[in-house]
Amino acid sequence: MADEKAERYIQRSSEIDAKAYAINYGAHREGMTKEEIAQYYSEWAYRGTYDHDLSPERYHGPEYAADVVSNHFIKNRESAKILDVAAGTGRLGEELFHRGFRNIDALDPAEGMLSVARKRGAYKDYFCEFMDGHALDIKNDTYDCVVVSGGMGEGHIPCRAVPEMIRIAKPGGLVCIVMREEYISYVEEYIDRLEPLFKQLEIEGKWQLISRTIVPKYSFDNNGVIFQYKAL
Ligand SMILES: C[S@@+](CC[C@H](N)C(=O)[O-])C[C@H]1O[C@@H](n2cnc3c(N)ncnc32)[C@H](O)[C@@H]1O
Repeated sequence: MADEKAERYIQRSSEIDAKAYAINYGAHREGMTKEEIAQYYSEWAYRGTYDHDLSPERYHGPEYAADVVSNHFIKNRESAKILDVAAGTGRLGEELFHRGFRNIDALDPAEGMLSVARKRGAYKDYFCEFMDGHALDIKNDTYDCVVVSGGMGEGHIPCRAVPEMIRIAKPGGLVCIVMREEYISYVEEYIDRLEPLFKQLEIEGKWQLISRTIVPKYSFDNNGVIFQYKAL
């Protein structure tokens, strides 16, 4: 399904868009280990082409996420403590920095991606780590906002990592996940699991849904879905 869809997109797109799509798809192939995925991203970043391939014309995740976070924090942007999960090359951090946020940390397992993010200078602390459900060396209730843009996908952040995001968010803090909508229905890890888990965590009183919004042209011509939850 994913292969066929990628093939269809590649066939009908301009050469440059098709190339970018294919490179991005290379990080989302079934059967890749998480280490292979991190290495793929690192090499992509070290080649210096990630930000061009996933430029704002082709990938709007960071802008969508920055809008959500900005709308949530009208005041106290300088002090609001934010964790950008799967921060990559730091486009979201840069967007947030431009909007007045000054207390942002970055987490990503791909050192090559973080090396580009470091040059942007938007973040305070860097965690070269997977968000995969293991307990991070971060205290409970640390962040006013935990935000993910583009970190969900085949082999990427698994369902079991969601409680860890809530654990490190302060009660009342924002947990925001921005992802490609179709992944919910074709990434094996998420099918009939991700949204039921979100609901289960709500039933357990771990968080509360603020909104679930579909947005157009999130990535290439694919819709995105933005989940906003209040950690409890
Ligand atoms: C498409 S990029 C998105 C980067 C950035 N957030 C952006 O919007 O430009 C996906 C990122 O997810 C990271 N990633 C993959 N698996 C991850 C995991 N289990 N935990 C945290 N980050 C992960 C990759 O290293 C990569 O930097």
